[in-house]
Amino acid sequence: MNFDGELEKRKNLVEEILETYLPKAEGEQRIVLEAMRYAVSAGGKRLRPILMAESAALFAKESEVWRTDFTEVPGPSTIGALPPFMAAIEFIHTYSLIHDDLPALDNDDYRRGRKTTHVVYGEDIAVIAGDGLLNYAYETAMRAFGKAVTIEDYQRVECAMNFLGRRAGVYGMVGGQCADLLAEKPGAVPTEETLLYIHKNKTAALIQAAMTIGAVLAGADEKAVAQLTKCAENIGVAFQIQDDILDVTSSLEVLGKPTGSDEKNHKLTYVTLHGLEESKKQVSKLSVEAVDILRSFPRENAILETLVERLINREK
Ligand code: IPE
Ligand code: IPE
Ligand code: MG
Ligand code: MG
Ligand code: MG
Repeated sequence: MNFDGELEKRKNLVEEILETYLPKAEGEQRIVLEAMRYAVSAGGKRLRPILMAESAALFAKESEVWRTDFTEVPGPSTIGALPPFMAAIEFIHTYSLIHDDLPALDNDDYRRGRKTTHVVYGEDIAVIAGDGLLNYAYETAMRAFGKAVTIEDYQRVECAMNFLGRRAGVYGMVGGQCADLLAEKPGAVPTEETLLYIHKNKTAALIQAAMTIGAVLAGADEKAVAQLTKCAENIGVAFQIQDDILDVTSSLEVLGKPTGSDEKNHKLTYVTLHGLEESKKQVSKLSVEAVDILRSFPRENAILETLVERLINREK
């Protein structure tokens, strides 16, 4: 298997899907649309949509999941509902980054190798570009209902909508961001419990949404979804620990975003609480456990396993 080539193909398909669903920058509201497009089109690893489709591929044929004619996927298969959800999760993730970089939050000037949205468009437009992406994400995901034919199809799409809404909001990413911001305030007590809450919510929650949505749309049963929820939690927490490590050890050139952001903001991170070496061990331990769960499913997905293994030593 040529993993890098396979990953590149998938990333390109995600780019196409995003371009299909992203509105054109025109009309009276052109500027906010332009800012939304600026943030999304800057690139990024597209990890969440890829994880979503690869999780679907654990329960459905890969050739059905990664279709090149994704706009024409015929019903009644709920696999046809994947592309709108893949776009939606990347829109939500990108909105979270626009807001995360604002002066009121982490106050960072670079993202995905470019000036952040608020630096280019101003804070006012950046705030509403985030709002625009968040709302448009649900408009996009809702299109999945158009692919449903049977009652079972509708139920799967409804379940996927619930996962998306729940884990992106106060009981997921937004909740995690809240704890992350409180933990940087003077007098905040740094505990392991708070740290885990932050990582599980600000980062793992969206990764869980991505993977469980993929599984549900491909027809996974409740037990499999529960296993995948645990697997995605490990991946998400490991991903954020690695992000905390890279904030200390990498550079703006490699990362595409500023390093030293966590220290500047007095963040509670895995590195501040446990040090670099222990953090690296934890990334590895969590990822190995995640791969073990993946291997327990009847259908093998070598791409997904390799992707998770590669995240352990990722440099960006
Ligand atoms: C950055 O996410 C924010 C975190 C949750 C650590 P990514 O590292 O996936 O960012 P992009 O999408 O590749 O830019
Ligand atoms: C943010 O974590 C996770 C989000 C929900 C956006 P960080 O603040 O560490 O993410 P980066 O390092 O700015 O990408
Ligand atoms: Mg942050
Ligand atoms: Mg940040
Ligand atoms: Mg970070």
